Amino acid sequence: MPIAPLMIEHRLIERMLDVMKEELVFIGEEKKVDPEFISTAVDFIRTYADRCHHGKEEDILFRDLGGKKLTEEHKRTMEELAEEHRWGRKITGRLVEANTRYVQGNQEALFAIVDCIKSLSEFYPKHIEKEDKHFFIPCMDYFTDAEKDTMLKEEWEFDKSLIHEKYRNMVIAAEKILTAKK
Ligand SMILES: [Fe+2]
Ligand SMILES: [Fe+2]
Repeated sequence: MPIAPLMIEHRLIERMLDVMKEELVFIGEEKKVDPEFISTAVDFIRTYADRCHHGKEEDILFRDLGGKKLTEEHKRTMEELAEEHRWGRKITGRLVEANTRYVQGNQEALFAIVDCIKSLSEFYPKHIEKEDKHFFIPCMDYFTDAEKDTMLKEEWEFDKSLIHEKYRNMVIAAEKILTAKK
């Protein structure tokens, strides 16, 4: 089943969200942010939750569902899910921006950081529940066993290329920084 890896990934995303929610307690108590933690959380969201997980949902599952005659309800849900992915990217971008301002000494940015983490940790569980409980399983009925197998294999291929993509991009970014310094 091509939805199995996606559901397993949901569990890891939930664990990271729990850590992020716990971090909010520390931020509230100590009135300060650990920018390293925010960078780690952003890396997890961007690389794992968005590129790896949403990437497989959008580029494989949603793409193939797009070729099927979906019920109005499933069509609407799929559009909502894709829109929610875009919203998550926007909030993550805001979190990065706020963290940069905070590192530069802007104390007020702490409130924006807290807001973004709260938004993300409220948004993701609802998004995941919609997929796990109301979308993934019924949507499997649109596919034959052979189609499901092909999707699962494509998911493996997708995952395999990601580590190379991540570190290739890291080198490209490092080269750009070096060029700018010269
Ligand atoms: Fe999703
Ligand atoms: Fe998902």
